[in-house]
Amino acid sequence: MTHRAPTRLPFVAAALAVAAILTASCRQGPKEEPPAAKAAAMSTAETLRFLYRGEPSTWPTPVLDAEVEWREFAEVPPAKHPDHNPHSAAKEELGRLLFHDGRLSGSRQMACASCHTPELGWADGRGTSLGHGAMPLSRNTPSLLNSGHMPRLFWDGRADGLEQLVLRVFHNPSEMRIDEEAMLAGLATSRRYRELFAEAFGDDEPTVSRVVHAIACFCRTVTSDGSSAFDKFLRGDREALSDSALRGMHMFRTQWRCANCHHGPLLSDGRFHNLGLSYYGRKLQDLGRYEITGEAADVGRFKTPSLRNVARTGPYMHNGLFDLDGVLNMYSAGMVTLRPKPEQESDPLFPTKSELLSPLDFDAADKADLTAFLDSLTERRRRVRVELPEFGDFVSPASKP
Ligand code: HEC
Ligand code: HEC
Repeated sequence: MTHRAPTRLPFVAAALAVAAILTASCRQGPKEEPPAAKAAAMSTAETLRFLYRGEPSTWPTPVLDAEVEWREFAEVPPAKHPDHNPHSAAKEELGRLLFHDGRLSGSRQMACASCHTPELGWADGRGTSLGHGAMPLSRNTPSLLNSGHMPRLFWDGRADGLEQLVLRVFHNPSEMRIDEEAMLAGLATSRRYRELFAEAFGDDEPTVSRVVHAIACFCRTVTSDGSSAFDKFLRGDREALSDSALRGMHMFRTQWRCANCHHGPLLSDGRFHNLGLSYYGRKLQDLGRYEITGEAADVGRFKTPSLRNVARTGPYMHNGLFDLDGVLNMYSAGMVTLRPKPEQESDPLFPTKSELLSPLDFDAADKADLTAFLDSLTERRRRVRVELPEFGDFVSPASKP
């Protein structure tokens, strides 16, 4: 542990100004630093405007714990398509239609877009989604936005690529529960779909692998579009963030140490951390990453979600149990600390909360500033118009009740 955040300071404005100037000088800062006396006389807002007036590479160094491999905030780059699934306009269009087509699913009603709805920030606005047969799923639906840039997918990281993820969703009995025979027969009856298969893959035969590749290809194109106030600020529009949002960003990067885990273009390190939300030994127990790796240290660890568009993707956390205010209150308290019951004292699986968290004691102004910063990550609302092609009425014996 290197930099323990100091607890509440009496003269926040003056202390902030001086501390920030000191951290700024650690980096290759702008040539003329204001003398300390002048900085102390400036208001917090003026000081922050001054410190963040240049390129991100000149901003004050973030305050981090020693082991963190941090990356600076940046705009989200365009999608990178892997060699095993190269992009083409036809494949993207095919994938876009398939993504919205509920007729692929076992129930013939559930599309990827049923839970990852473009207008709802590519999530579904529910605590947990309803799966096949309207059965509630156990985890919250993450946004699809920028998932092509995530090193591992799902809250527990069990998929390491979009192709693998789509196959899992297809075969998951609680999700799309695909009947391959019925899906392929339906697609084969559709002139438009056959045309697109031919353009994308060289011949017009629908196969499960082609469907999977087309959907994955489309998903990779769903990236941030640079329309958020935060992106404008990164591009040099210094008016794009209000004083409150700017202070929220500064504190997020420094004293509050959110940037320990939320950094880089996605505001996610793509890693797994325990925030104390495993509900270990209780009704809502979810062991997270441990279910995949079997390592005791992974009990209760979940992937750090991207915070892009976060104002649109509530409710939050892997279990979808919290609104934003609830999340901020938990961070204020240093998140949830589980205490072992007597019979759990020697339990090797008893989860340990991340050491990268500490109590922050937010006051109302802190929460308002943090919320203003998180709001600045909101992007233009997307409307996706889709006209689905015709689709055959084939019903395979297997899909009959
Ligand atoms: C019934 C709702 C539902 C449907 C339908 C659905 N998803 Fe999801 N999706 C979820 C949930 C819930 C999770 C998180 C599950 C977990 O982490 O265990 C998820 C996770 C994901 C993720 C991981 C994002 C990340 O950052 O880790 C991607 C990508 C994704 N889904 C894409 C798709 C695609 C593509 C389809 C269609 C083939 C699809 N989903 C269909 C609910 C759904
Ligand atoms: C130790 C790493 C870590 C630190 C530090 C951290 N976070 Fe997180 N954050 C996570 C993880 C992991 C999750 C998901 C946890 C879960 O679902 O159990 C998360 C979830 C969130 C969410 C909910 C997003 C969603 O889509 O569900 C918000 C908002 C958030 N963090 C904001 C912050 C803020 C603000 C700070 C600083 C006060 C912060 N985080 C500090 C790792 C971290």
